[in-house]
Amino acid sequence: MKVLITGATGLVGKQIVDDLHEKGHVVHYLTTRQEAIKDEPNYKGFLWNVKEGSIDVKCLDGVTNIIHLAGETVFQRWTDDAKKRIMDSRVFSTQLLIDTLKNNKHQVEHVTTASAIGIYPDQQDGRALKENEIPPTASNFLADVCIAWEKIGALFTQLGLKHSIVRIGIVLSDKGGALDQMSKPVKYYAGAGFGNGKMWQSWIAIDDLSGIFIHIAQEQLEGVYNGVAPNPVRNRNMMETIGKVIGKPVFLPNVPKFVMKMMLGEMSAIVLSSQHVSSEKIEKAGYTFEYRELESALQNYLS
Ligand SMILES: NC(=O)c1ccc[n+]([C@@H]2O[C@H](COP(=O)([O-])OP(=O)(O)OC[C@H]3O[C@@H](n4cnc5c(N)ncnc54)[C@H](OP(=O)(O)O)[C@@H]3O)[C@@H](O)[C@H]2O)c1
Repeated sequence: MKVLITGATGLVGKQIVDDLHEKGHVVHYLTTRQEAIKDEPNYKGFLWNVKEGSIDVKCLDGVTNIIHLAGETVFQRWTDDAKKRIMDSRVFSTQLLIDTLKNNKHQVEHVTTASAIGIYPDQQDGRALKENEIPPTASNFLADVCIAWEKIGALFTQLGLKHSIVRIGIVLSDKGGALDQMSKPVKYYAGAGFGNGKMWQSWIAIDDLSGIFIHIAQEQLEGVYNGVAPNPVRNRNMMETIGKVIGKPVFLPNVPKFVMKMMLGEMSAIVLSSQHVSSEKIEKAGYTFEYRELESALQNYLS
């Protein structure tokens, strides 16, 4: 395959690039930064500016698959400006890709766009949420973003292309992201759960997330797939397992919800929300997880 990736320089994108290279595939990528441009036989960068609607159409040369991950980070204070950047970077980048495909000759057959499990309603019980269970109206800003992103992504099919969506859970990696933030206080014996500690956290090892994106592209799967591991855990359990693996027990009481809200503002919704999400559909579609249990994933990424 020759795959065009947006967000290839980010946490998830880098892993997908490495794994595609290992399998002998060629990667083109779109970046907003001149300094991130490389020109190697199997890794070629192209510039785009989503705000201005500009894109180097040579990025499509020989490309058969697109993986669209790019978007302004949600891990920042959700001011009005930040919210606009978070929403616009996803919706307008998707529209720019659609317009570019519509107006240029290309060989693209399949597109996968990212989304997040934040689209699901907040739910404390352990019933596994499947891909068809989204509420008619969004309960918070993150769900709003996911709904808008998925809605515009669906337009790829109007161009006669196969399209799929991966709803990404909490990504565990040794190169930053959520695990780095969660494990930092634990290392100083300051680890604790959040709120009542009972929120379901649907995590996924970055190797499996990358594997899912590549499996979907190779098999040209269509529709929505949850990008989560088979065994979500509750928040307190997550923190205690991190403590166990690092060898620094988590014994402090949970940080109350109002403190989290004071510290993080509206963005606290990311850490306080509870979603027990099902991995059944992607497993039935032929993907075999490397990390099914939290402890084995943590041993890999925290050791
Ligand atoms: N990591 C997670 O836990 C998680 C969970 C759920 C969903 N997701 C979603 O999955 C996608 C990838 O996640 P990630 O963790 O790899 O994200 P990331 O590390 O923040 O990387 C995102 C990439 O998007 C590009 N980007 C940033 N702002 C942009 C803008 N305004 N316009 C165009 N491109 C922009 C950047 O590429 P350049 O600098 O090269 O332009 C950046 O490398 C994101 O959309 C994220 O929301 C991630």
